[in-house]
Amino acid sequence: MAEEEQNKLKGYGGGGAVKGMVEVNPQPQKGLTSKLIDWVEKLIVKLMYYPQPLHYLSGNFAPVDETPPTTDLIVKGYLPECLNGEFVRVGPNPKFAPVAGYHWFDGDGMVHGVRIKDGKATYVSRFVTTSRLKQEEFFGGAKFMKIGDLKGLFGLLMVNMQMLRGKTKVLDLSYGQGTGNTALIYHHGKLLALSEADKPYVLKVLEDGDLQTLGMMDYDKRLGHSFTAHPKVDPVTGEMFTFGYSHTPPYITYRVISKDGFMHDPVPITISDPIMMHDFAITENYAIFMDLPLYFRPKDMVKEKKLIFTFDETKKARFGVLPRYAKDDLLIRWFELPNCFIFHNGACSFLFTAICTLNSLLVGIDFTYEDQNQVHC
Ligand SMILES: [Fe+2]
Repeated sequence: MAEEEQNKLKGYGGGGAVKGMVEVNPQPQKGLTSKLIDWVEKLIVKLMYYPQPLHYLSGNFAPVDETPPTTDLIVKGYLPECLNGEFVRVGPNPKFAPVAGYHWFDGDGMVHGVRIKDGKATYVSRFVTTSRLKQEEFFGGAKFMKIGDLKGLFGLLMVNMQMLRGKTKVLDLSYGQGTGNTALIYHHGKLLALSEADKPYVLKVLEDGDLQTLGMMDYDKRLGHSFTAHPKVDPVTGEMFTFGYSHTPPYITYRVISKDGFMHDPVPITISDPIMMHDFAITENYAIFMDLPLYFRPKDMVKEKKLIFTFDETKKARFGVLPRYAKDDLLIRWFELPNCFIFHNGACSFLFTAICTLNSLLVGIDFTYEDQNQVHC
């Protein structure tokens, strides 16, 4: 490592190994097998994919390159000298063009930062260097399955392309396949980039404002499932509360992480079917889970040409209220709601019975990629 880089690492946020984190060094393989799978995939796309406008790759949504730290931004007004820190946000920004479809959620995570210090501002943008991105950089093109492809028989075949690349070691799936593109959170001195299908990536903010991906949190091998993009940090106790969802039992797993970064044992939450659970809520005493009828139904995807997650208008929704330090889900109480879907919580409190103030309350959801603007409220 160059001396300059080493000096940068000693900067803002400290240096050294991060407890509970693993370095991400995937080992993909080029060669005849890789080329053969690419050829089969191209044939499938040619025969079965009907090109559609990719709205989220154009106009204001068009991908952008990384920007190294750009100093002395024009400041309109005044930045107080006492301000010293970096404002960061993350969003999807695909580095490589898709082989077929593209969904808004598919892009590689790019973090944009504005470093403010001594009355001056510096802008930077960097990719979250996930296992997925590192491998696509190795190949020089898109190789991972995309949500935008998961529709109908074509979707099933694209799933199989991904599985084939994994089984033949063309792709190394041992570090997951997330994008780190959904949200950022700060806990136990670590800035984490999150996407709900994967584990958290650790970012480092350097003294000059630059951003570096250090590795992936597995909490000393205690984390073996996906990790929501919307964990909650209790400002009073310093604990972080999180969950992951899966298409195999247990469909939901709840976790508590102490203020000093220790991940407690998993608490499986029993529900009847695999669902998409994007968010949850924490109160002073309870964790509240949303069992909502957006089901993982790959058979419907193939038979009815739907997306792999299907909203079922015939099913009721439920809130599950669990004491937040429960060791299992024996004490969970479920409360039925009318049919609906909820993406995000606005705020939540517990008063005699559970009373949640929720936003994004949807009575129906159109999750198709033909028109990703349509979410029926
Ligand atoms: Fe979200």
